[in-house]
Amino acid sequence: MIEITIQNLKDKKDYYIGKTVQVAGWVKNFRESKTTSFLELNDGSSFKPLQIVIQKEENAKISQDTLNHVMHLGVAVIVSGVVVSAYHNVNDAEINAEKITIIGDCAADYPIQKKKTSLDFLRTIPHLRIRTNTFMAMMRVRNALSMAIHHFFQERGYFYVHTPLITGGDAEGAGESFQVVAPDYQGDFFGAPASLTVSGQLEAEEVAMALGRVYTFGPTFRAENSNTTRHVAEFWMVEAEAAFTKLDGIIDVARDMIKSIIREVLATCPDEMAFFDNFYEKGLVAKLQEVADNAFAEVDYTEAIEILQKSGKEFKYPVSWGVDLQTEHERYLTDEYFKKPVFVVNYPRDVKAFYMKQNEDGKTVAATDLLIPGVGEIIGGSEREADYDKLVAAMQARSMKVDNYHNYLDLRKYGSVPHSGFGLGFERMLMYLTGITNIRDTQLHPRAVGELR
Ligand code: 4AD
Repeated sequence: MIEITIQNLKDKKDYYIGKTVQVAGWVKNFRESKTTSFLELNDGSSFKPLQIVIQKEENAKISQDTLNHVMHLGVAVIVSGVVVSAYHNVNDAEINAEKITIIGDCAADYPIQKKKTSLDFLRTIPHLRIRTNTFMAMMRVRNALSMAIHHFFQERGYFYVHTPLITGGDAEGAGESFQVVAPDYQGDFFGAPASLTVSGQLEAEEVAMALGRVYTFGPTFRAENSNTTRHVAEFWMVEAEAAFTKLDGIIDVARDMIKSIIREVLATCPDEMAFFDNFYEKGLVAKLQEVADNAFAEVDYTEAIEILQKSGKEFKYPVSWGVDLQTEHERYLTDEYFKKPVFVVNYPRDVKAFYMKQNEDGKTVAATDLLIPGVGEIIGGSEREADYDKLVAAMQARSMKVDNYHNYLDLRKYGSVPHSGFGLGFERMLMYLTGITNIRDTQLHPRAVGELR
């Protein structure tokens, strides 16, 4: 086993200077001058590669035959050599190669080459695109963002709960679920129709009635037939649920979470974020820093409708009180009007889910969506209806089968308390953090209508 990773070497550069070490990795780049060849090696431990310097003079230690092999991107090698300070950056390390062993040759048709390839093309080779700088950076930010989410909730006393992925109900009541069947089983496997979860919320509410403050972070599945750059059939959602909390309280949590996770990702992934800033969205880091340091806007749905009506814009979907906000409306509010993240609150009852707390006006519910510039809706949440009779009435008004929701209704029978929660689309947050404009480029193997590579 190779003891030293490239990241170890970079971290402890002063210790390793002058020592002979062995590192393993894949060739990411190769260039040469008359006397010297330069090889960029990466083992995945560091976003930035390690430069290997190869002398080509007469008494060269590396044979021309080996050089001919390592010229090809993607070849896996073990390099032994002496660690020195990098020529162009004394804070970085590089290795003067003494021996290079080819571990795995790379066929000539390797599609990841120096020439920049389009994201569209890379989507056709998800198993290989992961080796590009863009996807290595994305996976590293994905990891950092996951940890930032856990840190945020754990530091505030929220318990991480695992809600079932196979469920009997359709949490959102929107009928966009995938059915689960066992074709070889004689009869009905579960004894009832089963589907993949569209949200862990209803079960998270159960746990919140025992542990008070909880969050989930796991995969969700939606059979939405919307072929957009913001929708996929399988995505990860972070859902928070807090007992004894009203809408204002949960908005505070959602805002603090967004700011906290931005700060942590900027702090833990400076190289990756500089890369996205450079190649995907100029000014990205400054924009995120500003969002982390400043207040978010909050607007009542009714006022948002007035703003849209006064905008003088020709929208494809006409605006009037009672309509659900479409992407074009959300984008106007965030990108042109507020120019920062905005919580829209108190939506019309009829465009939102059955479980949302009904406001006294009899027309609206205590719901909120967080809209952010460039992406649109990133969070959906609400105070929950805690009154048994009102909840049943809301279900009946939507022609839902009340019998299927016994568990959920029990929560309103036994010690019901005001409680609220929200769901953050993890991949939409990644889009915002990286400037990547197609949600398919935030995942390893995106699943969407007609897509299962
Ligand atoms: O607004 P949604 O549907 O809310 C819920 O599911 C609630 N049960 C959450 C809660 O209150 N606990 O979804 C939450 C977020 C959206 O704001 C969006 O960011 C993301 O999930 N999302 C999707 N992301 C990618 N592809 C899809 N098809 C998505 N559908 C929703």
